[in-house]
Formats: sequence, C-alpha cells, structure tokens
Amino acid sequence: MMKEVQILDKKFILTLSAETIDKEVSRVAEEINRDFKDKNPIFLAVLNGAFMFAADLMKKVNIPSEISFVKLASYQGLNSTGVIKDVMGLSENIKDRVVVIVEDIVDTGVTMQHMLEVLGMHNPKEIHIATLLTKPDKLKVSLNIDYNAIAIPNDFIVGYGLDYDGYGRNLPEIYTLKQK
Ligand code: IMP
Ligand code: MG
Repeated sequence: MMKEVQILDKKFILTLSAETIDKEVSRVAEEINRDFKDKNPIFLAVLNGAFMFAADLMKKVNIPSEISFVKLASYQGLNSTGVIKDVMGLSENIKDRVVVIVEDIVDTGVTMQHMLEVLGMHNPKEIHIATLLTKPDKLKVSLNIDYNAIAIPNDFIVGYGLDYDGYGRNLPEIYTLKQK
C-alpha cells in the first residue's frame, strides 16, 4: 500500500520520494553550476511554494551568487483563480544582472509569463527559469524553461513547499490528490 496523507478534507498518495526529489534537484544544481559559473547570478525564489526547493537547491549551488525572495500568488484551493498579484519584495537591483527565477511549479505558465514581464521592466541582462515541477500537458503559454527538475502528470499535488489551502508545505515528499 502506498503511503497516504490526509490534508483537510482530501486524501493524497505518495508519488515522489525525498530521494527522487533530491536526485533531480542535484542534477539541476549541477547544470546551474556549469552554466552560471562566471555570471554572478541572482536567484529570485518565489514564495511561498519555492521555499523548500530554493533551500535545497542553494545548498548545492557552489558558484558566487545572491538569493532573494519575491512573492506573487495566483492560486486558491484546487483551481487557478487567474488573479495575478504584483511581484512583491523585489528589493535588489536586477538591472544588467543574470536572474534565475526559482519556482515550485509551472502549471499553466501564466504566473511565470507575468513574472517575466514584470522583471523584464527592470532591465536584467538575462532571465532564466528554474522550476522544481512542470505539468507539460497544462502549459498554455509559450515559455522557455531552462531548468526543470521533474515533469509530472496533470494532477493536483502537495508537499515539498506546495500546499492545499495552505497546508502540506512541510511534507518532505510530494503527494498526489487521490481520485475517488
Ligand atoms: P500557473 O500560473 O498556472 O502556472 O500556476 C502556478 C502556481 O500555481 C504555482 O506557483 C503554484 O503555487 C500553484 N500550483 C499549480 N499547480 C499546483 C498543484 O498541483 N499543487 C499546488 N499548487 C499548485
Ligand atoms: Mg508558486
């Protein structure tokens, strides 16, 4: 029997172990260490969801770099509201800098597209996306995702930073909503 967790009114089943996540995060870190060696990147982790990915990724990044945190939310409960907020907390000057956005999941891609637009107005030298997860079947905008740890099917998940109505972010593994 696969491990299950109950979060609020829903049951979720273990689908990605901590070991699997760690392996793919390590791979992405290696790619980043290789590609940004002499580029002095600034990582912008998107709160709240990316906090765990960002922490684990940055422990494996060994090149000169900065990290900062921004907030931008578009999700409530199980469905995207389509409501986009501004990028909050961008206190660093990213003009002429190489920016790497660190995100938990690219679902439709609308959030990332909006974020690229907003950050682009600050005239960075380059912007790259590093995301823990993608749902390729749900992507509805054209996005260049340079670094993706894991691609998943079109299901709702929680854990490793991702939440269901605010809960489940602390789980060290990733769980998928159980279909009834
Ligand atoms: P997008 O704009 O549709 O790409 O939505 C991206 C945001 O929706 C992510 O940053 C997450 O916060 C949230 N999200 C998308 N899919 C899931 C999921 O399966 N579980 C929890 N949050 C999700
Ligand atoms: Mg997010």
